[in-house]
Amino acid sequence: MAKKTLLVTGSDGQLGSEFQEIASYYPDFTFLFANSKRLDITDQQAVSDFFETNNIDYCINCAAYTQVDQAETDQELAYAVNVTGVANLAAACKEQNAILIHISTDFVFDGSQTRPYTETDSPNPINYYGKTKYLGEQEIAKTLSNHYIIRTSWLYGKKGANFVKTILRLAAEKENLTVVNNQFGAPTNAEDLAKFILYLIQNSFDFGIYHLSNRTENQVSWYDFAKEILKLQKKTIPLLATNQKFGGVARPNYSVMSLEKTTRTNFRISHWKKSLEKYIKSYE
Ligand SMILES: NC(=O)c1ccc[n+]([C@@H]2O[C@H](COP(=O)([O-])OP(=O)(O)OC[C@H]3O[C@@H](n4cnc5c(N)ncnc54)[C@H](OP(=O)(O)O)[C@@H]3O)[C@@H](O)[C@H]2O)c1
Repeated sequence: MAKKTLLVTGSDGQLGSEFQEIASYYPDFTFLFANSKRLDITDQQAVSDFFETNNIDYCINCAAYTQVDQAETDQELAYAVNVTGVANLAAACKEQNAILIHISTDFVFDGSQTRPYTETDSPNPINYYGKTKYLGEQEIAKTLSNHYIIRTSWLYGKKGANFVKTILRLAAEKENLTVVNNQFGAPTNAEDLAKFILYLIQNSFDFGIYHLSNRTENQVSWYDFAKEILKLQKKTIPLLATNQKFGGVARPNYSVMSLEKTTRTNFRISHWKKSLEKYIKSYE
């Protein structure tokens, strides 16, 4: 059987670079890595030409504008990448009969629920970043039936900035740390997400939306997350909990996503503490 060609856009970002790390374990796929320099997804002509030149079976879109606070003032660029860019990829996939796998976010939800959000719950984003991500999802849904939208949350990977690295850096610099304890979600190790995406491709599951984070018993606050990071790194710095707002922009207070649908694929979703431990060990 001919090898499937997988294009990974935004390939130097946190998630994109995880695919570069694990690609050699998937010899049945040919990976094409395109960072923002090689392929700017906001450039419709460039996207169309790229798809025409390369025989792409799957496009895994890891390109995104991900600065949640900055998006409020940098709306044009956030929209261009998260909406127009995604629409360009959907159109090119349709044209070339490729399957689009797009990454979205728990931030499409408003956080007013008290039980985990399912794939069929209605999004209602409360910040501009969330709005653009939801609009991106809609662009795909209206253009292309052959798609997967994977919503994830609290992502951390080996490359780039993330909460785990920030806590470790601050623990080295400060005498104590204060972290919010009234925003609840679920962390996701980017390597687990990359593996889930390749699992979906290998098994040709039904198209549609899937939620993927690491498994939690109930819910995790940023404080719980920080506490576990410090414990695993054996840092004894005092950690204080606060209920004051984190960052300037509104964020959902509760964004735990139901993993029921994803669990039915039989993908083994790691527990968040186990996955964090593995990450921290590799990070040392
Ligand atoms: N990080 C989280 O906590 C989180 C949570 C939930 C969902 N997500 C979603 O998960 C996905 C991956 O996030 P991530 O953390 O890996 O993001 P990231 O580290 O910020 O990476 C995004 C990548 O997209 C590239 N990019 C930006 N504009 C582009 C353009 N016009 N054309 C092509 N590439 C472009 C960036 O390249 P340059 O650096 O060169 O601009 C960067 O390499 C995103 O869809 C994000 O919305 C993330």
